[in-house]
Amino acid sequence: MQKKLENLKKEILDQLNQAKDSAWLKNVEQKYFSRQGELSQVLKNIKDLSEDARKEAGQLANQMKQEVTERYNEVRNALEGSKNKSETIDPTLPGSDQNRGHLHPLSQTQKQLEDIFTSLGFSILDGPELESEYYNFEAINIPADHPARDMQDTFYVGEKDQPGKMNLVLRTHTSSVQVRSLEKYGAPLKGIIPGRVFRSEATDVRHEHTFLQMEGIIVDKNINFNHLKGLLELVGQKLYGPQTKLRLRPKFYPFVEPGANGEYTCFLCQGKGCKLCKHTGWLEIVGCGMIHPEVLRAGGINPDEYTGFAFGFGLNRLTMLQYGIDDIRLFNSGDLRFLEQF
Ligand code: FA5
Repeated sequence: MQKKLENLKKEILDQLNQAKDSAWLKNVEQKYFSRQGELSQVLKNIKDLSEDARKEAGQLANQMKQEVTERYNEVRNALEGSKNKSETIDPTLPGSDQNRGHLHPLSQTQKQLEDIFTSLGFSILDGPELESEYYNFEAINIPADHPARDMQDTFYVGEKDQPGKMNLVLRTHTSSVQVRSLEKYGAPLKGIIPGRVFRSEATDVRHEHTFLQMEGIIVDKNINFNHLKGLLELVGQKLYGPQTKLRLRPKFYPFVEPGANGEYTCFLCQGKGCKLCKHTGWLEIVGCGMIHPEVLRAGGINPDEYTGFAFGFGLNRLTMLQYGIDDIRLFNSGDLRFLEQF
């Protein structure tokens, strides 16, 4: 019996010393200490021994049980201690620094304008970047072979000039969505169309091949040039402050008549003249005009019943002016040293 008890004690201590986690300890507990466990069984058998042997074995067994139980408690405490230690949280320590992204500066400008226009009751409309030549040019009064096409050279996709094939282009402006929106929603219509546009440009500090525009369009009864002027003045004041003035100078766009270039008083020098406005006091911000009757007709709208105006902001140039950015190519560069400044 003595030998049996000593062997069992050695085995249990061995197992306890190898315990590295609570799962292991639980197995040991099950195997030796539970009601059906080996230790319990051995202790139970003592009662069947002769009186002398029982006395001796009982003492030995008690001593052995005490030793292994103590060791068991030590191991359990050590394992729980290390578990608690690894889970300890010190709420006084500063949090770990999370690397959070933020909106691209162009998206920030886009959102700023979207907020202004939606607060004035405009819906946000959308159209495809890969566009038919028809919606990008013909539908808005820029026929094939018209010299105005040269103003916006683009990327052609697919087989150009193949009979029966529709020529696709990367849209050169968001004006391509004018006729699409009129066809879809009819009149009255009041919406803005932010989006990416493309031109086959020899890029430089002011010209990109891929940039953002935001178109605006209103078609309703009795819309006239005063409405256009009033709206753009209000937008300028919301963008650059209540002292901002608008100047409209004639500019040719085939899809508007009359057409104009909208300029705001320079927000940096308040119109006095500085480097930003090239000492003119004005910043060129937006192309605009009354929608040409041919464009309304192409959208299924009767120009004798409805009139409207449209305008187009170049969001890259607007953002450049706002932050004093001197090279437009930085927007698409993906350079974090640039982007993290916004
Ligand atoms: C147009 O694209 C007209 N669709 C705008 C318009 C809409 C006029 C509705 C009238 C009525 P334009 O080609 O001027 O016009 O471009 C408009 C703006 O886009 C410019 O003022 C400029 O801010 C920006 N832009 C034009 N070309 C580039 C370019 N290569 N890189 C960056 N921005 C450009």
